[in-house]
Amino acid sequence: MAFSYLNKRLHCDGVDLETIAQKYGTPTYVYSESILRRNVQVLKEAFIDRGFKVSYAMKANSNPAILKLFRDYGLGVDIVSAGEYKMAERVGFTGPEINFAGVGKTIAELDLALESEIGHFNVESRFELDLLESRAAVLDKRARVLLRLNPDIDPQTHPHISTGLKRSKFGMGSEKVFHILTHSSEYPHIIFKGIHCHIGSQIVNPQPFYDLIDYLSLFTGRLHSVGVDIQHLDLGGGFGVNYEEPFEDILTTTPYLETFAEIANKKLNQFQLHIQPGRVLVANSAVLLSRVLGIKHNGDQHFVVIDGATTDIVRPALYNAYHKVSAHQESQNSKIGDVVGPVCESSDALARQRELPDFKSGDLLTIASAGAYASSMGSTYNLRPLSPEVMILKEGTAKLIRRRQSFDEMVGLYV
Ligand SMILES: Cc1ncc(COP(=O)(O)O)c(C=O)c1O
Repeated sequence: MAFSYLNKRLHCDGVDLETIAQKYGTPTYVYSESILRRNVQVLKEAFIDRGFKVSYAMKANSNPAILKLFRDYGLGVDIVSAGEYKMAERVGFTGPEINFAGVGKTIAELDLALESEIGHFNVESRFELDLLESRAAVLDKRARVLLRLNPDIDPQTHPHISTGLKRSKFGMGSEKVFHILTHSSEYPHIIFKGIHCHIGSQIVNPQPFYDLIDYLSLFTGRLHSVGVDIQHLDLGGGFGVNYEEPFEDILTTTPYLETFAEIANKKLNQFQLHIQPGRVLVANSAVLLSRVLGIKHNGDQHFVVIDGATTDIVRPALYNAYHKVSAHQESQNSKIGDVVGPVCESSDALARQRELPDFKSGDLLTIASAGAYASSMGSTYNLRPLSPEVMILKEGTAKLIRRRQSFDEMVGLYV
Protein backbone atom coordinates (compact mmCIF):
# COMPACT_ATOMS: atom_id res chain seq x y z
CA MET A 1 0.00 0.00 0.00
CA ALA A 2 1.47 3.33 -0.99
CA PHE A 3 0.79 5.28 2.23
CA SER A 4 1.61 2.98 5.14
CA TYR A 5 3.54 2.77 8.40
CA LEU A 6 7.02 1.29 8.34
CA ASN A 7 8.78 1.12 11.71
CA LYS A 8 5.88 3.20 13.10
CA ARG A 9 6.60 6.09 10.71
CA LEU A 10 4.31 7.03 7.83
CA HIS A 11 5.89 6.36 4.44
CA CYS A 12 4.81 6.83 0.86
CA ASP A 13 6.04 4.06 -1.42
CA GLY A 14 9.00 3.42 0.87
CA VAL A 15 9.92 7.09 1.42
CA ASP A 16 9.70 8.36 5.01
CA LEU A 17 7.55 11.50 4.94
CA GLU A 18 9.93 13.17 7.41
CA THR A 19 12.56 13.29 4.65
CA ILE A 20 10.06 15.10 2.41
CA ALA A 21 9.26 17.61 5.15
CA GLN A 22 12.96 18.27 5.71
CA LYS A 23 13.70 18.76 2.03
CA TYR A 24 10.62 20.69 0.89
CA GLY A 25 9.23 22.15 4.10
CA THR A 26 5.58 22.06 5.14
CA PRO A 27 2.81 22.27 4.18
CA THR A 28 3.48 20.13 1.10
CA TYR A 29 1.23 17.88 -0.96
CA VAL A 30 2.77 14.42 -1.41
CA TYR A 31 1.51 12.25 -4.29
CA SER A 32 2.06 8.59 -4.99
CA GLU A 33 2.75 7.81 -8.64
CA SER A 34 1.88 4.17 -8.01
CA ILE A 35 -1.62 5.07 -6.78
CA LEU A 36 -2.22 7.36 -9.75
CA ARG A 37 -1.18 4.57 -12.14
CA ARG A 38 -3.35 2.08 -10.31
CA ASN A 39 -6.38 4.40 -10.49
CA VAL A 40 -6.04 5.15 -14.17
CA GLN A 41 -5.48 1.47 -14.94
CA VAL A 42 -8.76 0.63 -13.15
CA LEU A 43 -10.61 3.25 -15.20
CA LYS A 44 -8.96 2.07 -18.39
CA GLU A 45 -10.02 -1.53 -17.82
CA ALA A 46 -13.56 -0.63 -16.72
CA PHE A 47 -14.26 1.94 -19.44
CA ILE A 48 -11.72 2.44 -22.23
CA ASP A 49 -11.44 -1.30 -22.81
CA ARG A 50 -15.24 -1.40 -23.12
CA GLY A 51 -15.23 1.27 -25.83
CA PHE A 52 -15.90 4.36 -23.70
CA LYS A 53 -14.04 7.61 -24.17
CA VAL A 54 -12.66 8.90 -20.88
CA SER A 55 -11.82 12.58 -20.42
CA TYR A 56 -10.17 13.52 -17.15
CA ALA A 57 -11.95 16.48 -15.51
CA MET A 58 -8.78 18.41 -14.81
CA LYS A 59 -10.45 20.79 -12.38
CA ALA A 60 -9.91 18.02 -9.82
CA ASN A 61 -6.15 18.43 -10.10
CA SER A 62 -4.43 20.24 -12.94
CA ASN A 63 -0.80 19.43 -12.18
CA PRO A 64 0.86 18.74 -15.56
CA ALA A 65 2.79 15.74 -14.20
CA ILE A 66 -0.57 14.09 -13.46
CA LEU A 67 -2.10 15.15 -16.77
CA LYS A 68 0.86 13.69 -18.64
CA LEU A 69 0.58 10.41 -16.81
CA PHE A 70 -3.14 10.11 -17.65
CA ARG A 71 -2.58 11.01 -21.29
CA ASP A 72 -0.22 8.05 -21.61
CA TYR A 73 -3.15 5.76 -20.75
CA GLY A 74 -5.31 7.20 -23.54
CA LEU A 75 -7.40 9.68 -21.56
CA GLY A 76 -8.58 12.94 -23.04
CA VAL A 77 -9.20 16.00 -20.94
CA ASP A 78 -12.30 17.91 -19.89
CA ILE A 79 -11.62 21.63 -19.46
CA VAL A 80 -13.69 24.51 -18.06
CA SER A 81 -11.56 27.58 -18.79
CA ALA A 82 -8.92 29.05 -21.08
CA GLY A 83 -6.39 28.47 -18.30
CA GLU A 84 -7.15 24.75 -18.28
CA TYR A 85 -6.90 24.77 -22.08
CA LYS A 86 -3.43 26.34 -21.84
CA MET A 87 -2.30 23.71 -19.34
CA ALA A 88 -3.72 20.86 -21.44
CA GLU A 89 -1.95 22.26 -24.50
CA ARG A 90 1.31 22.56 -22.57
CA VAL A 91 1.09 18.88 -21.67
CA GLY A 92 0.56 17.92 -25.32
CA PHE A 93 -3.17 17.22 -25.53
CA THR A 94 -4.25 17.96 -29.09
CA GLY A 95 -7.53 19.71 -30.01
CA PRO A 96 -9.55 16.52 -30.59
CA GLU A 97 -8.50 15.19 -27.16
CA ILE A 98 -10.06 18.21 -25.43
CA ASN A 99 -13.67 18.95 -24.62
CA PHE A 100 -14.86 22.18 -23.13
CA ALA A 101 -17.53 22.15 -20.39
CA GLY A 102 -18.79 24.87 -18.07
CA VAL A 103 -21.84 27.03 -17.57
CA GLY A 104 -20.31 30.30 -18.78
CA LYS A 105 -17.70 30.60 -21.50
CA THR A 106 -16.39 33.96 -22.70
CA ILE A 107 -16.07 34.98 -26.35
CA ALA A 108 -12.30 34.76 -26.02
CA GLU A 109 -12.59 31.22 -24.67
CA LEU A 110 -15.00 30.12 -27.41
CA ASP A 111 -12.71 31.60 -30.07
CA LEU A 112 -9.64 29.92 -28.63
CA ALA A 113 -11.38 26.54 -28.59
CA LEU A 114 -12.84 27.01 -32.09
CA GLU A 115 -9.44 27.95 -33.53
CA SER A 116 -7.94 24.91 -31.80
CA GLU A 117 -10.54 22.55 -33.32
CA ILE A 118 -11.31 20.96 -29.95
CA GLY A 119 -13.21 17.67 -29.84
CA HIS A 120 -16.47 19.23 -28.72
CA PHE A 121 -18.16 21.87 -26.59
CA ASN A 122 -20.60 20.88 -23.85
CA VAL A 123 -23.16 23.65 -24.25
CA GLU A 124 -25.27 24.56 -21.23
CA SER A 125 -27.72 27.21 -22.44
CA ARG A 126 -29.34 28.75 -25.44
CA PHE A 127 -27.38 31.97 -25.04
CA GLU A 128 -24.15 29.96 -25.20
CA LEU A 129 -25.37 28.09 -28.28
CA ASP A 130 -26.30 31.35 -30.02
CA LEU A 131 -22.94 32.85 -29.15
CA LEU A 132 -21.07 29.76 -30.34
CA GLU A 133 -23.04 29.76 -33.60
CA SER A 134 -22.14 33.40 -34.23
CA ARG A 135 -18.46 33.00 -33.30
CA ALA A 136 -18.16 29.87 -35.47
CA ALA A 137 -19.70 31.83 -38.37
CA VAL A 138 -17.22 34.70 -37.90
CA LEU A 139 -14.29 32.27 -37.76
CA ASP A 140 -15.66 30.10 -40.58
CA LYS A 141 -15.69 26.98 -38.41
CA ARG A 142 -18.23 24.33 -37.45
CA ALA A 143 -18.37 23.53 -33.76
CA ARG A 144 -19.08 20.00 -32.54
CA VAL A 145 -21.52 20.22 -29.65
CA LEU A 146 -23.04 18.08 -26.92
CA LEU A 147 -26.01 19.74 -25.25
CA ARG A 148 -25.88 19.50 -21.47
CA LEU A 149 -29.18 18.06 -20.35
CA ASN A 150 -30.33 18.60 -16.79
CA PRO A 151 -32.31 15.41 -16.05
CA ASP A 152 -33.63 16.54 -12.65
CA ILE A 153 -32.15 13.50 -10.90
CA ASP A 154 -31.07 13.77 -7.27
CA PRO A 155 -27.48 12.47 -7.01
CA GLN A 156 -27.86 12.10 -3.22
CA THR A 157 -24.71 14.02 -2.44
CA HIS A 158 -23.80 17.36 -0.83
CA PRO A 159 -26.04 20.19 -2.17
CA HIS A 160 -23.00 22.22 -3.26
CA ILE A 161 -21.93 19.44 -5.63
CA SER A 162 -25.40 18.40 -6.86
CA THR A 163 -25.67 19.59 -10.44
CA GLY A 164 -28.43 17.53 -12.05
CA LEU A 165 -31.45 18.96 -10.25
CA LYS A 166 -33.85 21.33 -11.97
CA ARG A 167 -33.07 24.15 -9.52
CA SER A 168 -29.32 24.05 -10.20
CA LYS A 169 -27.65 26.42 -12.67
CA PHE A 170 -26.32 23.59 -14.83
CA GLY A 171 -27.57 22.32 -18.16
CA MET A 172 -30.96 22.72 -19.84
CA GLY A 173 -34.28 21.02 -19.26
CA SER A 174 -35.29 18.16 -21.52
CA GLU A 175 -37.89 20.15 -23.48
CA LYS A 176 -35.33 22.81 -24.40
CA VAL A 177 -32.80 20.19 -25.48
CA PHE A 178 -35.50 18.38 -27.47
CA HIS A 179 -36.51 21.62 -29.16
CA ILE A 180 -32.96 22.54 -30.12
CA LEU A 181 -32.18 19.08 -31.49
CA THR A 182 -35.36 19.04 -33.55
CA HIS A 183 -34.53 22.50 -34.96
CA SER A 184 -30.84 21.93 -35.56
CA SER A 185 -30.95 23.49 -39.03
CA GLU A 186 -31.26 26.88 -37.30
CA TYR A 187 -27.60 26.45 -36.34
CA PRO A 188 -25.65 25.96 -39.59
CA HIS A 189 -22.26 26.27 -37.86
CA ILE A 190 -23.01 23.68 -35.19
CA ILE A 191 -22.70 19.92 -35.54
CA PHE A 192 -24.92 18.40 -32.86
CA LYS A 193 -23.09 15.26 -31.81
CA GLY A 194 -25.13 14.36 -28.77
CA ILE A 195 -25.97 14.91 -25.14
CA HIS A 196 -23.98 15.44 -21.99
CA CYS A 197 -25.17 15.01 -18.39
CA HIS A 198 -23.27 15.44 -15.14
CA ILE A 199 -25.57 15.02 -12.18
CA GLY A 200 -23.14 15.68 -9.35
CA SER A 201 -19.95 14.78 -7.60
CA GLN A 202 -18.90 12.36 -4.83
CA ILE A 203 -21.75 9.98 -5.68
CA VAL A 204 -21.36 6.86 -3.57
CA ASN A 205 -24.74 5.21 -4.17
CA PRO A 206 -24.80 4.31 -7.89
CA GLN A 207 -28.60 4.26 -8.21
CA PRO A 208 -28.82 7.86 -9.53
CA PHE A 209 -26.39 6.84 -12.31
CA TYR A 210 -28.63 3.91 -13.23
CA ASP A 211 -31.63 6.26 -13.22
CA LEU A 212 -29.68 8.53 -15.56
CA ILE A 213 -28.99 5.66 -17.95
CA ASP A 214 -32.72 4.79 -18.07
CA TYR A 215 -33.61 8.44 -18.50
CA LEU A 216 -31.23 8.81 -21.45
CA SER A 217 -32.45 5.61 -23.00
CA LEU A 218 -36.01 6.98 -22.99
CA PHE A 219 -35.02 10.47 -24.08
CA THR A 220 -32.91 9.29 -27.03
CA GLY A 221 -35.75 6.92 -27.98
CA ARG A 222 -38.07 9.92 -28.09
CA LEU A 223 -35.63 11.79 -30.29
CA HIS A 224 -35.28 8.78 -32.57
CA SER A 225 -39.06 8.56 -32.97
CA VAL A 226 -39.06 12.04 -34.54
CA GLY A 227 -36.10 11.27 -36.77
CA VAL A 228 -33.29 12.78 -34.67
CA ASP A 229 -30.40 10.41 -34.16
CA ILE A 230 -27.42 11.48 -32.13
CA GLN A 231 -24.12 9.60 -31.81
CA HIS A 232 -22.50 10.65 -28.58
CA LEU A 233 -23.58 10.41 -24.93
CA ASP A 234 -21.38 11.81 -22.18
CA LEU A 235 -22.56 10.55 -18.80
CA GLY A 236 -20.32 12.94 -16.84
CA GLY A 237 -18.15 12.22 -13.82
CA GLY A 238 -19.00 12.14 -10.15
CA PHE A 239 -17.76 8.73 -9.02
CA GLY A 240 -17.41 8.95 -5.25
CA VAL A 241 -14.56 7.74 -3.06
CA ASN A 242 -14.41 6.78 0.60
CA TYR A 243 -12.83 9.64 2.58
CA GLU A 244 -12.96 7.58 5.77
CA GLU A 245 -10.72 4.91 4.24
CA PRO A 246 -8.46 7.09 2.13
CA PHE A 247 -5.69 4.59 1.55
CA GLU A 248 -7.96 1.91 0.07
CA ASP A 249 -7.90 0.91 -3.58
CA ILE A 250 -10.62 2.59 -5.69
CA LEU A 251 -12.01 -0.84 -6.62
CA THR A 252 -12.96 -1.07 -2.93
CA THR A 253 -14.02 2.53 -2.37
CA THR A 254 -15.93 2.84 -5.67
CA PRO A 255 -17.06 -0.72 -6.26
CA TYR A 256 -19.71 0.00 -8.90
CA LEU A 257 -17.47 1.22 -11.74
CA GLU A 258 -17.59 -1.99 -13.79
CA THR A 259 -21.31 -2.53 -13.20
CA PHE A 260 -22.00 1.04 -14.27
CA ALA A 261 -19.99 0.53 -17.47
CA GLU A 262 -21.76 -2.75 -18.22
CA ILE A 263 -25.25 -1.38 -17.66
CA ALA A 264 -24.52 1.71 -19.75
CA ASN A 265 -23.11 -0.43 -22.54
CA LYS A 266 -26.11 -2.71 -22.48
CA LYS A 267 -28.81 -0.03 -22.41
CA LEU A 268 -27.11 2.61 -24.56
CA ASN A 269 -25.11 0.40 -26.89
CA GLN A 270 -25.85 2.35 -30.09
CA PHE A 271 -23.96 5.41 -28.81
CA GLN A 272 -20.35 6.42 -28.38
CA LEU A 273 -20.28 6.56 -24.59
CA HIS A 274 -18.10 9.00 -22.75
CA ILE A 275 -17.33 9.80 -19.11
CA GLN A 276 -15.42 12.67 -17.51
CA PRO A 277 -14.27 11.62 -14.05
CA GLY A 278 -12.05 13.76 -11.84
CA ARG A 279 -12.01 12.87 -8.15
CA VAL A 280 -11.91 9.08 -8.44
CA LEU A 281 -8.67 9.28 -10.40
CA VAL A 282 -6.78 11.45 -7.97
CA ALA A 283 -8.39 11.82 -4.52
CA ASN A 284 -6.57 8.98 -2.76
CA SER A 285 -3.25 9.66 -4.49
CA ALA A 286 -2.02 12.38 -2.13
CA VAL A 287 -1.78 13.65 1.42
CA LEU A 288 -1.10 17.13 2.70
CA LEU A 289 1.97 16.92 4.89
CA SER A 290 1.87 19.50 7.63
CA ARG A 291 3.58 20.32 10.92
CA VAL A 292 2.02 21.06 14.29
CA LEU A 293 2.76 24.65 15.29
CA GLY A 294 1.37 24.21 18.77
CA ILE A 295 -1.43 22.97 20.98
CA LYS A 296 -3.93 25.26 22.65
CA HIS A 297 -7.03 25.00 24.79
CA ASN A 298 -9.96 27.38 24.93
CA GLY A 299 -12.17 26.27 27.76
CA ASP A 300 -12.50 22.56 27.29
CA GLN A 301 -11.80 22.77 23.54
CA HIS A 302 -8.55 21.16 22.39
CA PHE A 303 -6.94 22.67 19.28
CA VAL A 304 -4.03 21.34 17.25
CA VAL A 305 -2.76 24.34 15.28
CA ILE A 306 -0.90 23.29 12.12
CA ASP A 307 0.89 25.13 9.31
CA GLY A 308 -1.49 23.75 6.66
CA ALA A 309 -4.85 25.47 6.22
CA THR A 310 -8.06 25.83 4.27
CA THR A 311 -5.91 27.60 1.70
CA ASP A 312 -4.46 24.11 1.00
CA ILE A 313 -7.65 22.04 1.43
CA VAL A 314 -10.84 24.07 1.39
CA ARG A 315 -13.27 21.13 1.28
CA PRO A 316 -13.91 20.92 5.04
CA ALA A 317 -14.81 24.63 5.13
CA LEU A 318 -16.82 24.46 1.91
CA TYR A 319 -18.72 21.20 2.36
CA ASN A 320 -18.04 20.19 5.94
CA ALA A 321 -16.06 17.40 4.28
CA TYR A 322 -14.20 14.72 6.20
CA HIS A 323 -10.45 14.24 5.61
CA LYS A 324 -8.64 11.68 7.68
CA VAL A 325 -5.83 12.98 9.91
CA SER A 326 -2.86 10.68 10.63
CA ALA A 327 0.22 11.17 12.72
CA HIS A 328 3.57 10.63 11.04
CA GLN A 329 4.74 8.82 14.18
CA GLU A 330 2.29 6.03 14.92
CA SER A 331 0.92 6.45 18.43
CA GLN A 332 -1.74 4.89 20.66
CA ASN A 333 -2.75 7.92 22.76
CA SER A 334 -5.69 9.93 21.61
CA LYS A 335 -7.56 13.13 22.41
CA ILE A 336 -10.74 14.66 21.04
CA GLY A 337 -10.08 17.98 19.35
CA ASP A 338 -9.95 20.13 16.23
CA VAL A 339 -7.12 20.44 13.74
CA VAL A 340 -7.01 24.07 12.67
CA GLY A 341 -4.87 26.23 10.42
CA PRO A 342 -3.44 29.71 10.97
CA VAL A 343 -5.93 31.48 8.68
CA CYS A 344 -8.07 34.18 10.23
CA GLU A 345 -11.43 32.46 9.76
CA SER A 346 -13.30 30.27 12.21
CA SER A 347 -14.01 27.99 9.26
CA ASP A 348 -10.28 27.31 8.93
CA ALA A 349 -10.48 23.82 10.42
CA LEU A 350 -9.34 20.66 8.66
CA ALA A 351 -10.93 18.33 11.20
CA ARG A 352 -13.43 18.98 13.98
CA GLN A 353 -14.22 17.04 17.15
CA ARG A 354 -12.07 14.19 16.00
CA GLU A 355 -10.30 11.54 18.02
CA LEU A 356 -6.72 12.62 17.31
CA PRO A 357 -3.28 11.32 18.23
CA ASP A 358 -1.85 13.16 21.21
CA PHE A 359 0.09 15.64 19.08
CA LYS A 360 2.90 17.85 20.36
CA SER A 361 4.35 20.98 18.88
CA GLY A 362 6.71 20.09 15.99
CA ASP A 363 5.03 16.76 15.14
CA LEU A 364 4.32 15.92 11.53
CA LEU A 365 0.88 14.85 10.41
CA THR A 366 -0.97 14.19 7.19
CA ILE A 367 -4.41 15.16 5.94
CA ALA A 368 -5.50 12.42 3.54
CA SER A 369 -7.44 12.42 0.27
CA ALA A 370 -5.59 15.57 -0.79
CA GLY A 371 -5.32 14.60 -4.46
CA ALA A 372 -8.68 15.96 -5.62
CA TYR A 373 -10.03 19.50 -5.24
CA ALA A 374 -7.20 20.39 -2.87
CA SER A 375 -4.24 22.00 -4.64
CA SER A 376 -6.49 22.93 -7.58
CA MET A 377 -8.74 24.88 -5.19
CA GLY A 378 -5.79 26.34 -3.30
CA SER A 379 -5.64 30.05 -2.64
CA THR A 380 -3.27 32.70 -1.37
CA TYR A 381 -5.72 34.07 1.19
CA ASN A 382 -3.88 35.78 4.07
CA LEU A 383 -1.04 36.08 1.50
CA ARG A 384 0.00 32.49 2.09
CA PRO A 385 2.03 31.27 -0.90
CA LEU A 386 0.68 28.19 -2.73
CA SER A 387 2.16 25.02 -1.24
CA PRO A 388 4.47 22.78 -3.27
CA GLU A 389 3.62 19.38 -4.71
CA VAL A 390 5.98 16.40 -4.60
CA MET A 391 5.45 13.07 -6.32
CA ILE A 392 6.95 9.87 -5.01
CA LEU A 393 7.88 8.04 -8.19
CA LYS A 394 7.35 4.35 -8.46
CA GLU A 395 11.10 3.76 -8.01
CA GLY A 396 10.78 5.36 -4.57
CA THR A 397 12.37 8.72 -5.30
CA ALA A 398 10.79 12.11 -4.67
CA LYS A 399 10.21 14.55 -7.52
CA LEU A 400 9.12 18.14 -7.10
CA ILE A 401 6.17 18.68 -9.46
CA ARG A 402 5.23 22.19 -8.33
CA ARG A 403 7.49 24.61 -6.49
CA ARG A 404 6.36 26.50 -3.41
CA GLN A 405 5.20 29.89 -4.67
CA SER A 406 7.75 32.52 -3.71
CA PHE A 407 6.75 35.66 -1.85
CA ASP A 408 8.01 37.70 -4.80
CA GLU A 409 5.76 35.77 -7.21
CA MET A 410 2.80 36.33 -4.94
CA VAL A 411 3.21 40.02 -4.13
CA GLY A 412 4.69 40.81 -7.55
CA LEU A 413 1.21 40.74 -9.11
CA TYR A 414 0.34 43.98 -7.35
CA VAL A 415 1.23 46.96 -9.51
C1 LIG B 1 -19.19 18.93 -15.91
C2 LIG B 1 -18.36 18.16 -14.96
N1 LIG B 1 -17.78 17.03 -15.36
C3 LIG B 1 -17.00 16.30 -14.53
C4 LIG B 1 -16.75 16.71 -13.24
C5 LIG B 1 -15.88 15.87 -12.36
O1 LIG B 1 -16.55 15.38 -11.28
P1 LIG B 1 -15.84 14.37 -10.28
O2 LIG B 1 -14.54 14.97 -9.88
O3 LIG B 1 -16.78 14.24 -9.16
O4 LIG B 1 -15.66 13.08 -11.02
C6 LIG B 1 -17.33 17.88 -12.77
C7 LIG B 1 -17.10 18.33 -11.39
O5 LIG B 1 -17.50 19.33 -10.93
C8 LIG B 1 -18.15 18.63 -13.65
O6 LIG B 1 -18.72 19.77 -13.26
